[in-house]
Amino acid sequence: MTAPRDGTLVLGIETSCDETAAAVVQWRDGVPRVRSNVVSSQHDLHERYAGVVPELASRAHLERIVPVVREALGSASVDAGALNAVAVGNRPGLIGSLLVGNAAAKAYAWSLGIPVLGIDHVAAHLAAGLIDAPPPAWPALGLVASGGHTHLFRMHDPLHAELLGRTIDDAVGEAFDKAATILDLGYPGGPRLDARSSEGNAGAVRFPLPRLTARSVRGAAADAAGAADPDARTLDFSFSGLKTALLYAVRGVPPSPGRTPPPAPEPLTPQRVSDLCASFQAAAVAQVVDVVARAHARLAASGQVPRTLLVGGGASANRHMRAELASLGERLGMEVRLPALAYCLDNAAMIAALAHWRLAAGERDDLRLAPSARSALGRT
Ligand code: KG4
Ligand code: ZN
Repeated sequence: MTAPRDGTLVLGIETSCDETAAAVVQWRDGVPRVRSNVVSSQHDLHERYAGVVPELASRAHLERIVPVVREALGSASVDAGALNAVAVGNRPGLIGSLLVGNAAAKAYAWSLGIPVLGIDHVAAHLAAGLIDAPPPAWPALGLVASGGHTHLFRMHDPLHAELLGRTIDDAVGEAFDKAATILDLGYPGGPRLDARSSEGNAGAVRFPLPRLTARSVRGAAADAAGAADPDARTLDFSFSGLKTALLYAVRGVPPSPGRTPPPAPEPLTPQRVSDLCASFQAAAVAQVVDVVARAHARLAASGQVPRTLLVGGGASANRHMRAELASLGERLGMEVRLPALAYCLDNAAMIAALAHWRLAAGERDDLRLAPSARSALGRT
């Protein structure tokens, strides 16, 4: 791939969900360097609904986008006239929210006479591990573990990601959020469940691990696996069985006619809640680690040993997930790129970082750029 030009300055904009974000990233000595990274979170707005309300999110983006961009330029000490391009997360996400960032990015690009680039949010999460760091060794495995995605890719460079497997139901971050709701931990659930897990015993409850086979899963990854053996395990994920198992552990197994009534659930003491958090987290992370390990073995067997694991997405902020992926990397001799926490959660630095490779590849979009609710990377 052609290397980006030294000194290139990109303004990134991200409004796909409930964070209004802008960042300035400059290419310096082979590394995308973050000059500023501003995130205005809307958690306070959505907390009482225990989830993101799309219409409220887009209205808040509209109010915040210009001040957030100004702050990003100001704290980077960059004059808008010095920018070389504007990049915007244009897919996937909430369509009303995406529209705001998209319109703002096009307006800045048009008024400054510079190119606009639409960036896939899922691909950008994979680029988070490339920020402020030297280039990794390729090929890589790319894992996106967020509130909307749990997807595993094979990558040969930052711009090309081939889907190996994905969740067939909930995303892992979504599963953490739903588990937190079941346990009444409040919103946002993932970080609270993470914190609470450190007070619990992960061995207290044994939650099941799914065993997805080509026969049980439909789709391209399953077809490829199933061509040889319908009972071959796929590289897909599933978290809804785990969520149901947690629900039963909390509320009890529903009785079925003609069967002995199931035992009453254990009382939900504060210690029991912590134990359930730790056990749930351990099971969710064990599944992620298992799929990544099998993907590594599969690629290694075909002579394409993954040298790096790029990780991104909000759930990669989870402390247990980070520790387990790091030790998997050590076992397999694979470098694991765990982004700084600020770049795990939604941010615009990852959007601007990825744009540098698109620019270097000669790619540009124009004012016809439109948002889309769906990712361009595989089935989402
Ligand atoms: O990447 P992100 O900010 O937004 C999406 O693109 O979805 O991810 C948000 C998700 C939420 O589901 C949130 O609960 C989860 O990431 N999350 C965590 C942690 N921090 C954020 N999940 C588990 N442990 C955490 N520490
Ligand atoms: Zn995200």
